[in-house]
Amino acid sequence: MTIKIVPSLLTADLARLGEQVREALAAGADAIHIDVMDGRFVPNLTFGPLIASALHPITHAAGVPLDVHLMVEKPENLIPLYAQAGAGFLTVHVETCPHLHRTVQQIKELGVKAGVTLNPATPLVSLEEILPEVDLVLVMSVNPGFGGQSYIPSSTAKIARLRQMLDTRGLAHVELEVDGGIKADNAFEIVDAGATMLVVGSAIFNSKASIAENMAVMRRAIAR
Ligand code: DX5
Ligand code: ZN
Repeated sequence: MTIKIVPSLLTADLARLGEQVREALAAGADAIHIDVMDGRFVPNLTFGPLIASALHPITHAAGVPLDVHLMVEKPENLIPLYAQAGAGFLTVHVETCPHLHRTVQQIKELGVKAGVTLNPATPLVSLEEILPEVDLVLVMSVNPGFGGQSYIPSSTAKIARLRQMLDTRGLAHVELEVDGGIKADNAFEIVDAGATMLVVGSAIFNSKASIAENMAVMRRAIAR
């Protein structure tokens, strides 16, 4: 599977959001990651469905999906709004979903690809029953809530174990996404462990270099 680089907008210049997304697309972004935070499941507040809806024509014209990461309590209330806004993937935290099977079906019935994600301390065993139902699994490699945190080193072994679970169950087509602290110096080990989608925030949107330069560095890092 070709490795997808997925810029996360959290550390983008939010006063110029549309332009930043266009720049990331021009630099070859394979999806655009939108972090939705509700001030409850995580302390921060971020992008509502209106923002997703405003960005959708830009990503749609480039043929690139909006990858919506719902860090919210009761995601079932918001799922229809983000589906309506044009989400290509909708990912929910297992920690927020007592009826996870129902929530995953809800996403799929709306014609959106369904993802499930785990906090760093949540074990892979909690995915056991739902894996055959999903299009994407997201391993959080930081505690969710903020951009610019450091990668938790034990995530690499977790990714490798998830890769094995997917492959041994005939589920190699499921995307294995990783989110948090991904930089040019750890991207290769993450891909080597079996990731197929890398969410990258502060290593793409920063004041040190342009989005295109940062994307190119990331591509080189995983190509080695
Ligand atoms: C963290 C978010 C991430 C974040 C990643 O809660 O889910 O998507 O934007 O940012 P970096 O790459 O800076 O860790
Ligand atoms: Zn995220």
